[in-house]
Formats: sequence, structure tokens, C-alpha cells
Amino acid sequence: MHGLKILITHEQIAARIADMGQEITRDSAAEPVIFVGVLKGAAIFLSDLIRAVELEATFEFIGVSSYGSRPAAGADQKPTWDSTGEVRLTKDVDQSLRGKNVILVEDILDTGLTLTFLKRLLLGHQPKSFRVATLLDKPSRRKLAIEADYVGFTIPDDFVVGYGLDYAEQYRNLPDICVLSGVQA
Ligand code: IMP
Ligand code: MG
Repeated sequence: MHGLKILITHEQIAARIADMGQEITRDSAAEPVIFVGVLKGAAIFLSDLIRAVELEATFEFIGVSSYGSRPAAGADQKPTWDSTGEVRLTKDVDQSLRGKNVILVEDILDTGLTLTFLKRLLLGHQPKSFRVATLLDKPSRRKLAIEADYVGFTIPDDFVVGYGLDYAEQYRNLPDICVLSGVQA
């Protein structure tokens, strides 16, 4: 049986996103920004974050998948994310980001493989500025040295679902962020 335990409530998420929106607004000095959300996990976070900034803002989506990446059960039967594979682009942005103020929006920064891949790709567009906003950060799992400019919550090494995050495409519509336990391999 899967077990779900609330880690971060929707009220806590809403309050933190309001703060992040103000931070981004302050840092952007009234310049327009373009948010680039990473499908599918960041879709819900992006939709709330863009409404928390007081800026001229547009958004795009980008899609990636990791070769060999799949939900897996760890030795202790805790669900985990096997993201040892290489990252591959499944959907590109629909416009050039050249000269734009880009904010990449991620659901969770884990090993850093995805973000490292996307940062290199998007810097190739020669944006005016490049920042990263992630709702969640699991620094203990990092394999590549990369950090976000805006972090919603730093969490321990647990597998979480809800508010956009999934386990085998399930649970994305939970309003709270929950720790998922008890998944068999
Ligand atoms: P990274 O490349 O290892 O940083 O992986 C980031 C991606 O792995 C995220 O965008 C998620 O899709 C997935 N991921 C990592 N940890 C979790 C988790 O706890 N729950 C759900 N998805 C996760
Ligand atoms: Mg993701």
C-alpha cells in the first residue's frame, strides 16, 4: 500500500509563493520576464508563481525526459527517483529567448542533471539574464554542483508527490505536498 503523509500544506505553499513572487518582482527592476516551466511537474507551480509577480510576464513550457529514469523502490522500499540516465529534450520552447530575462521554473531540484542540461540549452539562446526558481530543493541528492536562485522549500531525501509532482503520473492534483511511502519495486 502507498502511504501519503502531508509534508507541506497548500496554505504554506501559497504563502511561500507570494514571497517568492515579491522577491522576483524586486530583483527584476521592472523589466519584462519570461518564465519557462519544465513539463509536467512545474505546471501548477508556474501558474501560481506568475500570478504572484507584479511584472510584465509571459511564459513558455519546455519538456525533458531522462533515459533510464523511472520511479524505483530503494533498498529500504522507500520510493525514490532513479535519475542516473541522460536527459533528453522532448519539447522545445516556441520562441527564441535571445535578449530576454529568463526564469526557468522547476518543481524539484534533485541530482541537478535536468537543470544542468536545461541551463546549458537555454544559455545557448543568449538571454539577457538567466535565473532559476524551484519549488523544492533536495540538496542531499545533488550529483552536479548547481543551485537555484529562488527556492521555495528545502526538503530531506524523501520521495514527494502532489502540487504537480508525480509517482508514475499519479498524485499531481493533490493540493498539498506529501511524502509517499510503501511502494514495492
Ligand atoms: P534531477 O535531474 O535529478 O534534479 O531531477 C529532477 C526531476 O526528477 C524532477 O523534475 C522530478 O521530475 C523528478 N524528481 C526528483 N525527485 C522527485 C520526488 O521526490 N518526487 C517526484 N519527482 C521527483
Ligand atoms: Mg520534473
